[in-house]
Amino acid sequence: MLFDEVIMGRRSIRGYKPDPVPKDVIREIITLATRAPSSMNTQPWHLHVVTGEPLDRIRKGNTERNQAGVPASREIRMHGPYEGIHRKRQIEIAAQLFETMGIEWQDKVRRQDWVMRGFRQFDAPVSIVVAFDKSLTGNDIAIFDCGAVVNCLVNAAWSKGLGAVINGQGIMQSPVVREHALIPDDQVIMSCVAMGYPADDFSANDVVSRRRPVDEVVNFVGFE
Ligand SMILES: Cc1cc2nc3c(=O)[nH]c(=O)nc-3n(C[C@H](O)[C@H](O)[C@H](O)COP(=O)(O)O)c2cc1C
Repeated sequence: MLFDEVIMGRRSIRGYKPDPVPKDVIREIITLATRAPSSMNTQPWHLHVVTGEPLDRIRKGNTERNQAGVPASREIRMHGPYEGIHRKRQIEIAAQLFETMGIEWQDKVRRQDWVMRGFRQFDAPVSIVVAFDKSLTGNDIAIFDCGAVVNCLVNAAWSKGLGAVINGQGIMQSPVVREHALIPDDQVIMSCVAMGYPADDFSANDVVSRRRPVDEVVNFVGFE
């Protein structure tokens, strides 16, 4: 695939075929993804690729803790609820997804079910937990670097015919993830990425999220 086709074609995938993903394919994707640039080439990331029984244990633990009302325990700082224009964009993508899935805003049961899918890693056959070296805690650049590798990861997956979604929800109960993904104590969990072959009949997979126009985003300086 051409670079433009990958970038313009990629979408977040939230419904998967149960088919396992061969280890070699994941290796190829990670080989591409880890070409991501990082500050002074420090490459602070660690990618924990989880499948099968350990992933099922994470799904179960996440679900149980959320249903029991255990507060989220992320290992990186959070911003609290989005407000203003950011909240507006958050609602816009949620509305696109709910509309295509036939979920009404008032339908609390189906909305909660959708949230729980995220805690189950969207039932994907693979979850890649992204962590960074704890010695870099407090250095925002390490998080920037991990963002770069995650972006490469989802695009590399797409280029190989797989789908993925970056899934902040999946690591909100970080002790569960840490235990079953065997994450060492000297690493900080940043996020995770659900990955697998996209289900053909899952309408949310076709949603194309909107982007701000270039002229709104950019400030050209010194051009003719
Ligand atoms: C840091 C981060 C966390 C995210 N967490 C979630 C999540 O928990 N659940 C979800 O459905 N999508 C999640 N996403 C996916 C975004 O909703 C998605 O990338 C955005 O709406 C743009 O859509 P696209 O990826 O299809 O272009 C996350 C994306 C990022 C970058």
